[in-house]
Amino acid sequence: MSAEQPTGLTVIVLAAGGGTRMKSKTMKVLHPIAGRTMIGHVLTAARAMEPDRIVAVVGHQREQVSEHIRSLDPDVVLAVQEEQLGTGHAVRVAMAAIGEATGTVVVAYGDTPLLEGRSLRAFAAEHEAAQRAVSVLSGVVDNPFGYGRVLRNDEGDVEAIVEEKDATPAQREVCEINSGILAFDAEFLLGALPRIGNDNAKGEYYLTDLIGIAREDGLTVGAHTIDDVRQTEGVNDRAQLARMGAELNRRIVTRWMHEGVTVMDPATTWIDADVTLGPDVTILPGTQLLGATVVGEDAVIGPDTTLKDCEVGAGARVVRTHGELAVIGGEATVGPFSYLRPGTNLGAGGKIGAFVETKNATIGDGAKVPHLSYVGDAEIGEGTNIGAGTIFANYDGVAKHRTKVGRHARTASNNTFVAPIEIGDGAATGAGTVVRHDVPPGALAVSSGPQRNIEGWTAAKRAGTAQAQAAQQAAEQAAGGALDAGRDGDQDVAES
Ligand code: UD1
Ligand code: CA
Repeated sequence: MSAEQPTGLTVIVLAAGGGTRMKSKTMKVLHPIAGRTMIGHVLTAARAMEPDRIVAVVGHQREQVSEHIRSLDPDVVLAVQEEQLGTGHAVRVAMAAIGEATGTVVVAYGDTPLLEGRSLRAFAAEHEAAQRAVSVLSGVVDNPFGYGRVLRNDEGDVEAIVEEKDATPAQREVCEINSGILAFDAEFLLGALPRIGNDNAKGEYYLTDLIGIAREDGLTVGAHTIDDVRQTEGVNDRAQLARMGAELNRRIVTRWMHEGVTVMDPATTWIDADVTLGPDVTILPGTQLLGATVVGEDAVIGPDTTLKDCEVGAGARVVRTHGELAVIGGEATVGPFSYLRPGTNLGAGGKIGAFVETKNATIGDGAKVPHLSYVGDAEIGEGTNIGAGTIFANYDGVAKHRTKVGRHARTASNNTFVAPIEIGDGAATGAGTVVRHDVPPGALAVSSGPQRNIEGWTAAKRAGTAQAQAAQQAAEQAAGGALDAGRDGDQDVAES
């Protein structure tokens, strides 16, 4: 190769295979791990190389896969491989889709969720520095069954890759395997792809044949061994999906602990790849932080909490809660047993307490919904307290309506707010009020009539029951107490 090596970087991601062992309606590379699809992880790693272009080869369920790739990264070039005739054929389809390329072409697979961009970068850099026609990212494994084996000569130079089914018993003993990730000089690749045949055990066009072809041409070939082989491990079935998911989670949790997050029980803590945690966050056992959840400094989450796409402010406390698309302000407290549905927005220092469900609800700074309530389609002003057991009746059976409660209002227990209504600033309600009309600022709303006691009702209607007996005993005790009080000349009873 000349000193003025053509520059440029193309990454090809192969994702045309069916993944039949997943036994799933969902295409293999679309299965999620740590909140991203497998191909999402690979594309993230590929993008981290800052390539000139990424080409994804799709085949099985190409519509779903293509749509997903476009949604993740619209700049990815999609190449359709109608029939899966082998990895060599797939790369040929990819190169045909881009027309021409110079510099380096890196090939990776779409089903390796642990792959990291920095590993790809180091591999490509070594390939370029050594000015090779082909480099293979190899790994040394205990059980090489199923993999292509890297064959070296007596000098240790890479001679060829032989697939499991084509290998001799002696070759099968080799534990250095082809991870599947290869780097090529683009010019060599374009010239050599048509020379790959399919005269092998599987009748496929093997991309790995290019190692032998380069050697025949007297070109430089080499292998770069990756220590962390799991990064290149593919997922073939659901047992492997779970294992790789646990491994990726272990890596993510460990990284956050190194960043200054306390995780009491890493084994029961699940953190998705796109979650962001602030310094001194504490995560208690049984907690799942999913999607694009962001947790601010000093917040304490858990135990037994699931938050998906939530934003938690600094110093907040979230206990045994399920939340989705909710915002929790700084120093706010949530739980235990709270259900925060999409559109919940709790202000700083606010509270959503036990057995409270919220949806499309803005709860102002310092406002509190402490117990047993449903708050839907509502706006609650700052400093307001909602009494225990309040239902924001937002649905009339046909349409949803909003309720607005002003600032520093005090509503009592067991209220029903029949939307649409507005309760003004500094207003109040009595216990058991059904609020059907607006309450002006500063007013007290009461809807139940005055209490009426019908004396002797139990004795008249429930004679002979334990209830009647208890009433009778209470009456006798009261009569005796009144006599005693009279004897002692105690005036308290009369005065009260
Ligand atoms: C391949 C390698 C093998 C390596 C192993 C690592 C070849 C010939 N063999 O074997 O050396 O050790 O990966 O896992 O390259 N694909 C397509 N189109 C095709 C065929 C495959 O897109 O026509 C995609 C598949 O979806 C998959 C990847 O390429 O993501 C690998 O294909 P697969 O058939 O699984 O190759 P292996 O037999 O595992
Ligand atoms: Ca495979």
